[in-house]
Amino acid sequence: MSAKKPLRSQAWFGRQDKMGFYYRSFLKNHGTPQDQFDGRPVIGICNTWSELTPCNAHFRDLARHVRDGILEAGGYPLEFPVSSLGEVTMRPTAMLYRNLAAMDVEEALRAHPLDGAVLLMGCDKTTPALVMGAASVDLPTIGVSGGPQLRGVYRGQIIGSGTNIISMSEQLRAGEVTLEEFHEAEAGMNRSAGSCMTMGTASTMASLVEAMGLGLPQNAAIPAADARRNLLARMAGRRIVQMVHEDLTISKILTRAAFENAVRVLGAIGGSTNAVVHLLAIARRLGVPFTLDDIDRLGRGVPCLVDLMPSGRFLMEDFFEAGGLPVVLKTLGEAGLLDRDAITANGKPIWDNVKDARCWRPDVITPWDKPFKPEGGMAVLRGNLCPDGAVIKVSAASPNLMRHTGRAVVFESIEELHARKDDEALDIDADCIMVLKNCGPKGYPGMAEVGNMPIPQKLLRQGVRDMIRISDARMSGTAYGTVVLHVAPEAAAGGPLALVRSGDLITLDVAGRGLHLHVEEAELAARRAAWTPPPPAATRGYVKMYIDHVQQADQGADLDFLVGGSGAPVARDNH
Ligand code: FES
Ligand code: MG
Repeated sequence: MSAKKPLRSQAWFGRQDKMGFYYRSFLKNHGTPQDQFDGRPVIGICNTWSELTPCNAHFRDLARHVRDGILEAGGYPLEFPVSSLGEVTMRPTAMLYRNLAAMDVEEALRAHPLDGAVLLMGCDKTTPALVMGAASVDLPTIGVSGGPQLRGVYRGQIIGSGTNIISMSEQLRAGEVTLEEFHEAEAGMNRSAGSCMTMGTASTMASLVEAMGLGLPQNAAIPAADARRNLLARMAGRRIVQMVHEDLTISKILTRAAFENAVRVLGAIGGSTNAVVHLLAIARRLGVPFTLDDIDRLGRGVPCLVDLMPSGRFLMEDFFEAGGLPVVLKTLGEAGLLDRDAITANGKPIWDNVKDARCWRPDVITPWDKPFKPEGGMAVLRGNLCPDGAVIKVSAASPNLMRHTGRAVVFESIEELHARKDDEALDIDADCIMVLKNCGPKGYPGMAEVGNMPIPQKLLRQGVRDMIRISDARMSGTAYGTVVLHVAPEAAAGGPLALVRSGDLITLDVAGRGLHLHVEEAELAARRAAWTPPPPAATRGYVKMYIDHVQQADQGADLDFLVGGSGAPVARDNH
């Protein structure tokens, strides 16, 4: 091996002075031998284990396999905890804390004697939080996702995370199932370790980690309970040691090409709208030029290839049996929609990893010329109602509503929506457009997953199953409908959404990428003059800082002072 400059960790461990004593001595209480400080790569295993994040509750075990791999490759593993974000347990929304967790990860990686990082990620927001934080430090980094749960099963029926909860709760309300049966289904849906096994946000983000080359092949689909997940973790442990030797930093992997491939994959898997916000935030940490318009342009003409819930029939376990994401990547590559040279964590261009992939279940991963759905990408809308953009998932929307003008029925807050939606006196019909305000980053706060407003009961009784809904909120990756999301600027920041009143006409034109409010400019100006912002949700603490600094959805909803990176240097000793 040629002479190389000493690794970063040697600024701690390579010292033969008072500080060297400090830095080594305290770690020796693990039973660490002196030879571990000889200049070998020190690898941080960044763990989002938490019992409050049930989807990541198996991560102590997963970390053990990573550790084995690091040791086998001659590295020195050090596992540490970072903030964990449980999508179903945190209120008002886990998204409020994504940036806080990203700060935690960034500062932990920088402050400690680490040469490389393994990111253990699972539940929805844990993936973008860790990638954003790591991007701002720019060490060699590899992602390991925790894997999806096994198929949900209830009395012989396959049930999918999130997607089947709505139908079951409606059956309970209608008296069609007993409370005992309801409880039994709860256990059947979550019968193994892992994240949601539909193509919700967790599976979408794990797929994008693989598509961007930050994880090893098959990172997305191997079930958490499958021994091959442990094997993948072990191989990632081995590989990160080599990545440190090669100085293969995260910014060398997450290039413009990686983001372009991610957008194509997002369409081809019919992925979650949440990925749009996360990709923008990650790109801005790295200084990669990448905007909402890129997402619209690159997603056009990408069919949805996988027949997975929420829009399809199958689950992640089926996706793995079918061959997993490498099959999707290969299909895109053959269609000319993959940057084949994008470098990946195993050191190879992505095409090398996927070119021999085979599909074992064409019912789950459909061929290019007979896709599950012709249009998989996200459409980015513009217009006087959303000057900075809005997003609609085309594959989840109803074709008959894609071009539609309707009368707005406005809800000023989530509380007003809940109070009025089932009021028999509510003046609403199937042609109306439901508008929800003050659910954006500042307004909710945290841009909660409430954009797929429930259809009013009286319309449900008439057989109405979908309506146009518009808001500054997000929606769960397991949801669907003709739902316009991420309207920017949001209502609470004084965006035009704040000025809409019930009775106004709105036109949605997905093909023309338009969202227009038919109100005269003079009238809008008068309404704007009369508008006062809603009171902030907090006057102290993290939430106040979040509200004061959060950027709008079109910029990734990061905090303004977190955009960019600071690298890994630390100037001073601690004593
Ligand atoms: Fe954690 Fe769905 S709730 S992945
Ligand atoms: Mg969610």
